Amino acid sequence: MKILITGSRGQLGNEFSVLAPAYPDFSFIFTDIAELDITSEPDIDLLVKQEKPAVIINCAAYTAVDKAEQEDNLAFLINATAVGNLARVASKYNALLVHISTDYVFDGKGFKPYVEDAPTNPVSLYAKSKHAGEQQVQSYANRAIILRTSWLYSEFGNNFVKTMMKYGRERGQLNVVFDQTGTPTYARDLAETILEIIQKQPVPEGVEVFHYSNEGVASWYDFAKEIIEISNISCKINPIETKDYPLPAVRPFYSVFNKAKIKHRFKIEIPYWKDSLRECLGRMNQE
Ligand SMILES: NC(=O)c1ccc[n+]([C@@H]2O[C@H](COP(=O)([O-])OP(=O)(O)OC[C@H]3O[C@@H](n4cnc5c(N)ncnc54)[C@H](OP(=O)(O)O)[C@@H]3O)[C@@H](O)[C@H]2O)c1
Repeated sequence: MKILITGSRGQLGNEFSVLAPAYPDFSFIFTDIAELDITSEPDIDLLVKQEKPAVIINCAAYTAVDKAEQEDNLAFLINATAVGNLARVASKYNALLVHISTDYVFDGKGFKPYVEDAPTNPVSLYAKSKHAGEQQVQSYANRAIILRTSWLYSEFGNNFVKTMMKYGRERGQLNVVFDQTGTPTYARDLAETILEIIQKQPVPEGVEVFHYSNEGVASWYDFAKEIIEISNISCKINPIETKDYPLPAVRPFYSVFNKAKIKHRFKIEIPYWKDSLRECLGRMNQE
């Protein structure tokens, strides 16, 4: 089975390259913006027509959450309009589209883990652009999975784990917010889950939304403490409130997912976030 990966040089996209040798039944076409700019529907059409992938996994995105408050046109172009391009082409050639979305589609005012059909209410412009992307999939895809994930990190790209390690080594103490709660997700676990889902045919007809993060719950403060402790970095982490660390984009205060649907449907087990973090840091330290 042929799988087209877009955004393959991002955090999630890179994980598929690492996993590829373990899935000999799949052949992968890895593309990032240089090989396939998803804002061009004719380019997507040409590639899909030639290669005929059975599955398109969209890892391409505009992910600069704070910059999106200024660059909203670009964020909407990549996170929404371009997703519509992918959805239309996938439908035209009968490919399954796996699209990645975010916990930010919720406003974070809840206090119970969000189920897939909980009312959405994106607040920041990044969140609105990702929400619009989901709507594009719903409008144009015949067969698609929208996978919402949260607090993604990996050995690749820039993320909170690397930022904490860098600043933790440079500074004696760090202030980190403790009043935003969610769940970290190791991009390797997410990539593996996507490949397992694809293997477990039949995949759903129509468009279905699933939630995936690692297991458990943490604040950014808890996440930072764990990163610093596992990495044996000598740095004090101070809990602070969001109001004391203002950023351009508003984040949800609570964005924990209910993952019962994905676990039951595909019979998967999800690793606890601290175990996955330990694994990722172990790999980072080997390099
Ligand atoms: N990161 C998180 O904490 C988080 C949380 C929840 C959900 N998500 C979602 O998870 C998915 C994967 O996120 P990630 O962290 O792996 O993202 P990432 O590291 O920012 O990777 C995105 C990739 O897409 C590329 N790209 C940008 N514009 C493109 C275009 N027009 N055509 C093709 N490729 C393009 C980027 O290239 P450049 O780097 O050159 O722009 C980058 O290589 C995204 O949908 C994101 O919204 C992420």
